[in-house]
Amino acid sequence: MNSQEKIVEMFDKIAPSYDLANRVLSFGIDKSWRKKAVDFVLKKFSNQTISIVDMACGTGDMIALWQGRAGFFGAGIKDIVGVDPSSGMLEVAQKKFSKSGVRFINSLAHESGIEDDFADIISISYGIRNVKERSATLLEFNRILKPGGYLLVLEFTKREKKGFISALRDFYLSKILPKIGGAISKQKEAYEYLPSSIENFLDTDSFKTELKEAGFQVEIAQSFSFGISTMFVAKKVVQL
Ligand SMILES: C[S@@+](CC[C@H](N)C(=O)[O-])C[C@H]1O[C@@H](n2cnc3c(N)ncnc32)[C@H](O)[C@@H]1O
Repeated sequence: MNSQEKIVEMFDKIAPSYDLANRVLSFGIDKSWRKKAVDFVLKKFSNQTISIVDMACGTGDMIALWQGRAGFFGAGIKDIVGVDPSSGMLEVAQKKFSKSGVRFINSLAHESGIEDDFADIISISYGIRNVKERSATLLEFNRILKPGGYLLVLEFTKREKKGFISALRDFYLSKILPKIGGAISKQKEAYEYLPSSIENFLDTDSFKTELKEAGFQVEIAQSFSFGISTMFVAKKVVQL
């Protein structure tokens, strides 16, 4: 089993308790990060009919928000697609959206098979860190997005500065979170993976450079809650 397959297997195992663990571990704050990000992008599409792809959709938190918030901006959703390689996560998502016209694709992000220029918006929340084929995936996002379309990424980026808040976050992630996440999911290993996956990911500036190389112009890279989570909003400006 390669490292990507192991990651997907881990998400399969934690899928049934994923939503509960998420809310407990982030004290519910992740909901506000997601909402701010979704609203930021939807403002750009007010009074338009749009298609959205949520990559690494997991149990569907972002899909629910896209559907729930679009109306506030006068945006109509023509198509909404969730992509994830974990059957376990998709099973939970499919139950939630059985009657709401969401199409799900069981796939890694870089080989979803979605047609060229399909989407006005692609989102990926707390997913890109888990993607091994990151450069192929960013190129795939470029291919699937319409010219001028937007990519929204939410992620925990690697710490750049060492300060009190950073130290506190690192302590929480490495010492507290695996215990609580492990107790809820009975899969402690999966929650030990989280801090190491952040450490192995990029800092904000390096990720911005990768986005530029994939044909995107980064409009904003904004951190939330003292830099715990970062939102990247990038426009497709070059067709690769
Ligand atoms: C931390 S969860 C985030 C789920 C959801 N986006 C959310 O915000 O709750 C990470 C998700 O990434 C998925 N994933 C892992 N590797 C992936 C890949 N190469 N392509 C697409 N999704 C991937 C996992 O199956 C998992 O559902």
